[in-house]
Amino acid sequence: MTRPASVSDWRLRAQKRLPRMMFDYIDGGAYAEATLRRNVAAMEEIALRQRVLTDVSKLKLSTELFGQTLAMPVILGPVGMAGLYAHRGETQAARAAEAAGLPFCLSTVSICSLEEVRKSVAKPFWFQLYMIRDRGFMMELLNRAKEAGSPVLVFTVDLPVTGARYRDVRSGLSGELTLADKLRRGFNVLSHPRWMREVFIGGRPHTFGNIAHAMPNAKGTNDFAQWIGKNFDPSVTWRDFEWVRARWDGPIVIKGILDPEDARMAAEVGADGIVVSNHGGRQLDGVPASVDALPPIVEAVGSRLDIVMDGGVRSGLDVLKALALGAKSVAIGRAWAYALAGGGEVGVSAMLKTLKAELEVAMALTGCTDVETAGRSLLVEHS
Ligand code: FNR
Repeated sequence: MTRPASVSDWRLRAQKRLPRMMFDYIDGGAYAEATLRRNVAAMEEIALRQRVLTDVSKLKLSTELFGQTLAMPVILGPVGMAGLYAHRGETQAARAAEAAGLPFCLSTVSICSLEEVRKSVAKPFWFQLYMIRDRGFMMELLNRAKEAGSPVLVFTVDLPVTGARYRDVRSGLSGELTLADKLRRGFNVLSHPRWMREVFIGGRPHTFGNIAHAMPNAKGTNDFAQWIGKNFDPSVTWRDFEWVRARWDGPIVIKGILDPEDARMAAEVGADGIVVSNHGGRQLDGVPASVDALPPIVEAVGSRLDIVMDGGVRSGLDVLKALALGAKSVAIGRAWAYALAGGGEVGVSAMLKTLKAELEVAMALTGCTDVETAGRSLLVEHS
């Protein structure tokens, strides 16, 4: 295969490299995957407004967010189990993000622990937290994130229950399949590298880095899925957010907001920002594309909160579209997961360079010289 040039090339490379079960886990969405497709289609529908003969020799891509300077308005958002896509995957992605001057957000359900990732980079990274029934364990995770110096906490609220992802059911990733069943479904454990076998079959103490000791008898991904079912808390309300707020001094970003009413609540309970997100089409299928949900939310709370958007960002052109509609930054999920699977740290770095180059071209040809000034005037308004 030729050198991957775009995110979609990295997707193909990931497909080639990963066992089908793993690729489907990354690539798939909930139910009929309508929202997953919508995220990408809605981005494509937005038309940028080409402008000419403006001086675009100097472009400013950097931006300030939650007290940090980002080299461009792109965050590597939380992606669970990334250590299954490449050897010690989260450490590789975190290093690529750091080299590019971008925040990396570690998932609660990462393979590499907070401590392991912290050792692999010079500067602290963001941490994503799910609401877990055992508040003592939540407190422990918060303390570990503080200990690791995490500057920003991302609190994900769109997973009180898990939307069924039928590709995972079919592949056997979710469910009660034995290893023999998995082998029959094409996950040929023996043909994959040792690090992947170890995580799948389990038994290593650091298999699920942050939560390993909470599930001491876990033997791979089945037990992990069960643990999530038992321990993610569906009774969470805004009051519980206040519990988290009181225990975290730095900025907190609520991830998984799609409705202006909820965005207002987020501002009222003291969040510093939100991620407008449908979890990459992996939760409630049928909800709007993130980029379509964005404008009314910006109108409702744009002056009170910093708004990040994720879902369907596959190029630097998409980054500019989201900024034009009022996002301060985007977050990416699959884009970095594909690149990590396809080429490790080097792959993620190359993909981020591509996003940057695409963003530069989009800015230059819309006459936008500073990402912080991007607005509606960069778009052809459709009726
Ligand atoms: C995710 N996402 C996610 N979000 C979160 O808060 N915690 C998590 O552990 C995960 N895990 C996860 C795994 C995989 C494989 C994917 C693809 C996504 C959601 C993620 O942060 C983000 O919202 C979406 O990925 C954004 O959509 P795109 O960029 O993938 O289109």
